[in-house]
Amino acid sequence: MKHWTLFGCGALGGVMAGLLAQAGHQVSLLRTFPPQQVPQEVKHPLLLSWWDLEGQHHEFNPDFLQTKDAANISLLLVTTKVYQVQVAMEPLIGQLPEATPILLLHNGMGTEAWVKRAFPANPLLIGITSNGALRLSAEEFRHTGSGETWFGAGNAAGNDWRGVVDVLAQALPHAAWSDEIRMKQWEKLVINAIINPLTALSGETNGSLLTRQEEVEALCHELMPLLQREGFNLPEEAWVSRVMAVAAATASNYSSMQQDLVAGRPTEIDYITGYILREAQPLGLHMPLHQQLYDAISHRSPIASGISNFSI
Ligand code: PAF
Repeated sequence: MKHWTLFGCGALGGVMAGLLAQAGHQVSLLRTFPPQQVPQEVKHPLLLSWWDLEGQHHEFNPDFLQTKDAANISLLLVTTKVYQVQVAMEPLIGQLPEATPILLLHNGMGTEAWVKRAFPANPLLIGITSNGALRLSAEEFRHTGSGETWFGAGNAAGNDWRGVVDVLAQALPHAAWSDEIRMKQWEKLVINAIINPLTALSGETNGSLLTRQEEVEALCHELMPLLQREGFNLPEEAWVSRVMAVAAATASNYSSMQQDLVAGRPTEIDYITGYILREAQPLGLHMPLHQQLYDAISHRSPIASGISNFSI
């Protein structure tokens, strides 16, 4: 059994913490902001409640670690929202032992380069997951959909940590190592760039897209020149069927962006559609449909102001 330190206890972090604790692992939650900035809603000692996929209720008491405890962190699983990664991790620079692997698990892309610069010696693992999770309150979470979790090496040292994914697999419905994590990241990026803004704007579940296949097709079509330039040679229909398959598998779930907009939280749009538009721009590729989604969501999302939005 391992000692996992989780950084970020939103919907996904809460469910991951619950699954790991349930599998007998030691789970600590890390917070790097000063005590006066701990959100009022968080009580201590903390009792986390979560419901598994069968509706069974579980509770556990994680302990809290602070920046001063960084030397005791042996495995760091970062589950903050993508836009919180840098602000949350900055206090750990020079504090986290160089041998401690960092596992990044969030929707969206664009944090890896900063983490590599800030923690050049630490083994880095990049992950994606399609597990559905819901945050009911600061201490209550629900696992809403079984999904796959994949990790791959983010740097050469990360390769030596393949075995840690087998340990995760004891706790998660499906977790495995991938030597093609970049491809998996892009697949997830495309899925999130289509499902998330469409459902966030309509306020409907992911399953609502099953009757909107033409819109999904048009959005995939617009992405094709970029995907080809990125070196992916899957045909357009394969991208469409991947998006539709996730919409079907998570039909009764609300996407994370839909949940964020409803709760008045910042969204990940800058690291999903924004990332895609930033990659496309220097290549002279125009994406009016994705630009429209980006504008509509950005217009409705509060600005991410970092630390004050950082769950637990
Ligand atoms: O962001 C999300 O909600 C999820 O990544 C996914 C796979 C779209 C399911 O809702």
